[in-house]
Amino acid sequence: MEKQELRTFGRRHGKKLSARKQTLIRDLLPTLNPIQHGLFDDCILEIGFGNGEHVRDLATNNPDCTIIGAEPFENGVAALLSAITDSENNVLNEYKNILIWPDDVRILLRESEQKFNQVWILHPDPWPKARHVKRRLLSAEFLNMLATHLSDNGKIIIGTDHWEYFDWIIDQVKNTDLSATIPDIETIQTRYQQKNKAGTASPKYMILHT
Ligand SMILES: C[S@@+](CC[C@H](N)C(=O)[O-])C[C@H]1O[C@@H](n2cnc3c(N)ncnc32)[C@H](O)[C@@H]1O
Repeated sequence: MEKQELRTFGRRHGKKLSARKQTLIRDLLPTLNPIQHGLFDDCILEIGFGNGEHVRDLATNNPDCTIIGAEPFENGVAALLSAITDSENNVLNEYKNILIWPDDVRILLRESEQKFNQVWILHPDPWPKARHVKRRLLSAEFLNMLATHLSDNGKIIIGTDHWEYFDWIIDQVKNTDLSATIPDIETIQTRYQQKNKAGTASPKYMILHT
């Protein structure tokens, strides 16, 4: 029997969705499933996009790339669907390159052979309590799995304001074939970055490459 994987995310559902968002989840979301769309030459993945602000930035900044966002929290998926559509629920032109995987990214990575030029993970759940550390997504095992999905010169960009998790990830990288560099980049604005639950001075970023 296959070993049951530990959940790396918290809630799947939050407050009740508006009628419009329920319609978007029912009618539009199934049309944006990356598995149904086949494979792309130029593709970027964002894992755990929250409300999807950064997925939208990626879409407008990389119009020739397909952007796949993975997020199991339904209210986040609904927030992104709402932000990329007009009042008639049609996807706005600048967001037509977005696809959404509304589930655990590990399932997508197992089911698809898609390669990515970039993989973004901003503010992964830090699971700060010692007994929850095994729920952290960015283990060596997961990073190795991600590495098999990188295109030539592909890179993984990780940002977190939880400095202890940052150091923990760097330790995990040592057990992979990936190398880490610390870029000098401006803080990327996302919902969790603004909440800054960790209370640190700023997020730290790393770039992983083969
Ligand atoms: C702390 S939130 C950060 C959200 C967003 N990136 C931001 O910065 O505002 C972490 C997100 O990762 C998602 N997540 C956790 N495990 C995941 C997994 N295995 N696959 C996809 N998303 C996951 C959670 O549902 C949650 O929305």
